[in-house]
Amino acid sequence: MTRKILVTSALPYANGSIHLGHLVEYIQTDIWVRFQKMRGNTCHYVCADDTHGTPIMLRAEKEGITPEQLIARVWQEHYDDFRAFHVAFDNYGSTNSNETKESAQSIYRTLKANGLIEVRSIEQYYDPVKNMFLPDRFIKGECPKCHAKDQYGDNCEVCGAAYAPTDLIAPFSAVSGAKPELRNSDHYFFKLSADSCQQFLRQWTRGGSLQQEAANKMQEWLGAEGENKLSDWDISRDAPYFGFEIPDAPGKYFYVWLDAPVGYMGSFKQLCAKSGLDFNDYWKQGSDAELYHFIGKDILYFHALFWPAMLQHAGFRTPTKLFAHGFLTVNGEKMSKSRGTFITARSYVDHIKNTEYLRYYYAAKLNGTMEDIDLNLEDFVAKVNSDLIGKYINIASRCAGFISKKFDGKLGNFDSAATAEFQTAFADGEIARCYEERDYSRALREIMRLADVANQYIAEKQPWAMAKQEGKDAELHEVCSTALTMFRDLTLYLKPVMPELAAQVENFLNIKPIAWSGTWQSLPAGHTINEYKHLATRLDPKLIEAMVAANQESLKPMTDSHSETRHAEHQQHAISPIADTISIDDFGKIDLRVAHIVNAEHVDGAEKLLKLTLDIGEAQPRTVFAGIKSAYDPEKLKGRMTVMVANLAPRKMKFGMSEGMVLAASGEAPGLFILSPDTGAQPGMRIK
Ligand code: MSP
Ligand code: ZN
Repeated sequence: MTRKILVTSALPYANGSIHLGHLVEYIQTDIWVRFQKMRGNTCHYVCADDTHGTPIMLRAEKEGITPEQLIARVWQEHYDDFRAFHVAFDNYGSTNSNETKESAQSIYRTLKANGLIEVRSIEQYYDPVKNMFLPDRFIKGECPKCHAKDQYGDNCEVCGAAYAPTDLIAPFSAVSGAKPELRNSDHYFFKLSADSCQQFLRQWTRGGSLQQEAANKMQEWLGAEGENKLSDWDISRDAPYFGFEIPDAPGKYFYVWLDAPVGYMGSFKQLCAKSGLDFNDYWKQGSDAELYHFIGKDILYFHALFWPAMLQHAGFRTPTKLFAHGFLTVNGEKMSKSRGTFITARSYVDHIKNTEYLRYYYAAKLNGTMEDIDLNLEDFVAKVNSDLIGKYINIASRCAGFISKKFDGKLGNFDSAATAEFQTAFADGEIARCYEERDYSRALREIMRLADVANQYIAEKQPWAMAKQEGKDAELHEVCSTALTMFRDLTLYLKPVMPELAAQVENFLNIKPIAWSGTWQSLPAGHTINEYKHLATRLDPKLIEAMVAANQESLKPMTDSHSETRHAEHQQHAISPIADTISIDDFGKIDLRVAHIVNAEHVDGAEKLLKLTLDIGEAQPRTVFAGIKSAYDPEKLKGRMTVMVANLAPRKMKFGMSEGMVLAASGEAPGLFILSPDTGAQPGMRIK
């Protein structure tokens, strides 16, 4: 039976770079998704950037750009980083999308109709200089308990005390430095304390959707039967805020955590639009699809309480399971900038290049529990070199050459007694069970045990000695063919972890992408393989040292400008190369005009084109066919101003004459964007 599975990873915040801690989660999820796909299940993997909230708004302001510009830049950066680590989303969206907005507003409306939204006035710190209410993290002051200075509004980093911002001594705004004032404001609450919510959550958190440790935590948070420990959840924030406006509540915005998980839906909706899947089939109450959220233990509260309660009371299905993982430590300690162990994804790629090594190491550590996992840098080098290179790659590098040199690249018979362990392992399915249960460390131990079996076989037979002896060719042929079948099996099992290496091996063995189904078979006698080329190199510990040193350097006072340079560098990868230099005269040949879009319509039979009628102040408006159908609804274009090339030779197209061209921006990221002049520009004005 093939299963229908929808998988998500948590949506990374759009105000920072992806680092090795994040990657624990995305690699863990990606391995699981690849495994499911190899097993023949229907499995979709979606994610998105989490783009709303005060920190993003303030950071954009600091950089002198709009929040939209900031999140577009970070989106590209995140997208590239994930790709470099072979994290293969079926859709990578943004919470700042129409799809997410519509879903968030509609969920809100249903909750409201069900009596679960309440408005209450609350008292909160306000920054009178910046004219905004301050989130706890943006208020600082002296810890009421230990009197440490410069502590955040929610807890003290020195003594660990938790408190309300109003408890701080001598509070000040971290944004402007001003002394905050207490002011009242109406806030919108989701009534988690309502009986229906409490009862539902009590039952849901015990219903097998949570790991044992997580279920226990939830019982603590929910309290004993009859005890009403959950308080209502404040889901609104006052303007100025970067987010979605709450319907019928001017100046009020959804708190970022309200629309963040809805981003899972929004991203999936985009996938549905591109692939023809049915959204309701996966999300409506009673859906027979499975839904899994991979998350870090720090965001369990949001996913195990707020999110299921929202879904349940808005007519949607709830998650099948939450898979929470622990946090990454490096060399046994919290990632630290001063130790150089706060390592970004980009920095890893720049120094080490091979991202599958990290995938392998994380897999060797992940066991499906909420325990923290440690990246010990010495152990990382040792594991990659001893397991991957020493045990796995070595099998091919020791046997493949003989097949090419002595047997014209053709495989011979294989030794079925020698592969008995491999046949049993395949039939038994233990490795598949380990992957399914996210116990990758156990899967890899089993795989390495099989690699040991293969290496023992080779060591006993000594093909290199046989090659030097007369009359041993048949045996040599059999040994090498058998070893390569073993190598093929190991590649199958490692493929969810190291997809690129597996593809190289498939190419070398000259076989179709290895599937994980059916019955076990050896590589067939007579099959021709390609010449063995180096598959992977040992990991040089010097590269690790250099990476750590580079991250330590970046701590020096100019962290900010350094990260700016990095952004600039990064942009270079992301944008297409700049074209050859031209003179001002060359440019002057192009006559660009401000155009008023008088009409826009679909063209019968045209897949990509819209027919635009453009007024540039001439006696007759012009007709232009533009390839922007994928990005624009013609209704929304009518009346807009844009930019056109007015002196381009008219071009006869299948659907009529096109008398010019409108300009649009596009890049590697999805999307197409036509240009708009600033307000005030008149049709026909020349652009130069
Ligand atoms: N934006 C929220 C999630 C919204 S989901 C609807 C968020 N973003 S995050 O960027 O801070 O983290 C994204 C994921 O990475 C989270 O699941 C988080 O637990 C995980 N990790 C972030 N740092 C991590 C480590 N150091 N170690 C392991 N996982 C870590 O939370
Ligand atoms: Zn303190």
